[in-house]
Amino acid sequence: MQPFTLYIDSPGHVPQSRAMNKIVEAERSPVLPPAAQTFRDAMARVASAVHIVTTTGPAGLTATAVASVSDEPPMVLVCVEAGSRTLAAIRASGVFCVNTLPGGFEEMAQLFAGRRGLDGEARFAAPGWTTLATGAPVLAGALVAFDCRLTAIHEAATHRIVVGEVVGLGGAGRGDGLIYRDRRFETA
Ligand SMILES: Cc1cc2nc3c(=O)[nH]c(=O)nc-3n(C[C@H](O)[C@H](O)[C@H](O)COP(=O)(O)O)c2cc1C
Repeated sequence: MQPFTLYIDSPGHVPQSRAMNKIVEAERSPVLPPAAQTFRDAMARVASAVHIVTTTGPAGLTATAVASVSDEPPMVLVCVEAGSRTLAAIRASGVFCVNTLPGGFEEMAQLFAGRRGLDGEARFAAPGWTTLATGAPVLAGALVAFDCRLTAIHEAATHRIVVGEVVGLGGAGRGDGLIYRDRRFETA
């Protein structure tokens, strides 16, 4: 442990008897890269929207690792585990659709996360699926659906960063979204 100096300049943190900018001695913990489990626990504190990423076949998985990339052209990315069957189907088809789930769709999120023992086409048994420009399944009740043509797949350790250009927008759902936080689904 190495001592370091902390400068406090907020009046709210300094007792009246002390001068401003009082120097406080403290101890610094060594900074280590987090272990995988520690990292997962940290990520669990981050609230994420829940999406179903689909492709023709059909195939699809539940994903929270989704982000906007650019708006001109409109592009999104999804981080998908390298062994995912949906990833293989996206590579083969060159298209995918990101369906953002409304509140109350926890059962669908569980199903597409493989927690009901179903894979591939069997995950699409419930009604409510349609298509837009690419042919990838679009959930009619999604808050929003980003219909994409695949533009790149980048390697990143255990995952692949799947990038697509948005060629169509769908989804008629309104209201709250399905959120995943502290390893639980919530509506917010
Ligand atoms: C809340 C939640 C979020 C998930 N997010 C992702 C994700 O962003 N990327 C990913 O590859 N897997 C994610 N998964 C795991 C996949 O949904 C799961 O492994 C799925 O069964 C893969 O299906 P596939 O092999 O048919 O593609 C998530 C699971 C849950 C429950």
